[in-house]
Amino acid sequence: MAKNIDWSSLGFGYVQADYRYVSKYKDGKWDEGGLVTDANITLNECACVFQYAQTCFEGLKAYHTVDGRVVCFRPDLNAARMKETCERLEMPPFPEERFVEAVKMLVKANEDMVPPYGTGASLYIRPFMIGTNSVIGVKPAVEFEFRMFCTPVGPYFKGGAKPISIKVSDFDRAAPRGTGHIKAGLNYAMSLHPIVVAHEEGFAENMYLDPETRTKVEETGGANFMFVTKDGTFVTPKSDSILPSITRRSLMVVAEKYLGMKVEHREVLFSEVPDFAECGLCGTAAVISPVGHIYDHGKDIYFPSGMEEMGPWTKKLYETLTGIQMGRIEAPEGWVVEVA
Ligand SMILES: Cc1ncc(COP(=O)(O)O)c(C=O)c1O
Repeated sequence: MAKNIDWSSLGFGYVQADYRYVSKYKDGKWDEGGLVTDANITLNECACVFQYAQTCFEGLKAYHTVDGRVVCFRPDLNAARMKETCERLEMPPFPEERFVEAVKMLVKANEDMVPPYGTGASLYIRPFMIGTNSVIGVKPAVEFEFRMFCTPVGPYFKGGAKPISIKVSDFDRAAPRGTGHIKAGLNYAMSLHPIVVAHEEGFAENMYLDPETRTKVEETGGANFMFVTKDGTFVTPKSDSILPSITRRSLMVVAEKYLGMKVEHREVLFSEVPDFAECGLCGTAAVISPVGHIYDHGKDIYFPSGMEEMGPWTKKLYETLTGIQMGRIEAPEGWVVEVA
């Protein structure tokens, strides 16, 4: 039975569910793990997560499909990306098969929180890991907690599928080269001031350029970029200091195999941006959010698709991707995993 929630008016916020999954690492191994009801964590003040921010996280969604199944989109890729993040942060990876099992346990236990099909809402799942023992000299923790909670969410940007206005950030997000696979608190903390400034100025997000030359498009605070050229080529920035978005990797396949588009994954110069026909942000939370306008220090870039609706290619990409996720269009092998 679905909870008594007005699913269609949900924003992107936290609604506490009944169960979360927890496993603890001690003496060199992960314990058996399981579901708990306590949403709070009690830790020593000197825990490594507080002192040296030894923490990382992932994000994925569960949905109801058109035929009433509850599925997740490519959870194995979240497990694999979290493993890589952990390796860079001196954290013990949570075994990938157990990660997917934990997603299943969590969603099954909170099935009443999976929004019904057609409401535009979904169940956002947030796996994360923290270093829990006390550490005062700069070194990694030896004890960790892996936790996964979930919350029903609506659209990430207010206005749903309406094009948004973003700005070229005045700040660097400071994700060093070669750390693009890391979905850790540090890069996100560096984006908190820029997002507050952007919102105060009336923009939905920041476009970060590469910090070294400020000539190449990187990503936004919570999504990768996708562009479409006037002749229908799908272009998406390549950089080793941005998150390898699962949505972006999937859209490259959708564009090529489902829509017959030419696909380019390459460095994108900011100077090319005014020539693109369409622009969008892609990610688990953003899905595909069309961008109608980019403000760049006194100059404006408007895309031909305007501020009222998605461009025609963006719409096709959006409908195909969400069609695959919701079971309306046949998915490539292994993309849609039944979880409840
Ligand atoms: C900085 C950043 N880039 C990109 C993405 C999109 O990644 P994915 O498609 O795997 O959700 C996210 C999503 O959380 C993000 O936070």
